[in-house]
Amino acid sequence: MAAHDLKDDAVRGHSRRDFLRGSSVAAATAVLTGQATTAIEEAKAAESEPKVLSGELKITLQVNGESRSCTVEPRSTLLDTLRHRLDVTGPKRVCDRASCGACTTIVDGVPVYSCTTLAVACQGKKIETLESFDTGPAGVPHAFHQHDGLMCGYCTPGFVTACKALLDKNPNPTLDEVRRGLDGNICRCGTYIGVLEAALAAAKAMKGA
Ligand code: FES
Ligand code: FES
Repeated sequence: MAAHDLKDDAVRGHSRRDFLRGSSVAAATAVLTGQATTAIEEAKAAESEPKVLSGELKITLQVNGESRSCTVEPRSTLLDTLRHRLDVTGPKRVCDRASCGACTTIVDGVPVYSCTTLAVACQGKKIETLESFDTGPAGVPHAFHQHDGLMCGYCTPGFVTACKALLDKNPNPTLDEVRRGLDGNICRCGTYIGVLEAALAAAKAMKGA
């Protein structure tokens, strides 16, 4: 290095060694910044990833206006939990694979297949089953009885529940709207005409109640 270079650097207040040291620090900072950024991104991703649950869990469900606690495995369905842990047997197991509707349960106002709904996912939600329905002349079960909406009865709890969910949302349904509202339920005995009549009659009765 020429003397004037040293002098020039000294005049400018830094040497090449300073420059090299500075460059190393800058590079290290860049690497650290990169690592820190990656760590933050990973932490954010982990936060947004679903939690893995295992073992037995204590859960509390709001069922028919009551707070009910029990222990379940994370994989437990709402149907199993209601029937086997909480003794709420209105929803029935028929197909156990989301195709017949016999297990229909109302969760936050929406009819769901409880055989394929996780119980843990229903915490903090309003769960309604057949047991809470009005069984008097203005109720849906009475209309099914009056209009021959059942034969063997396997599908009936699901139909009554789906019908109640529909009428809670739409108290004046047309025949088409009733058909669409109940299209997630199957009756192997073919009582559909009675079911549709019962739904329309229940709508009328509920208004007069
Ligand atoms: S038992 Fe759930 S849909 Fe059939
Ligand atoms: S009444 Fe028998 S399956 Fe519907």
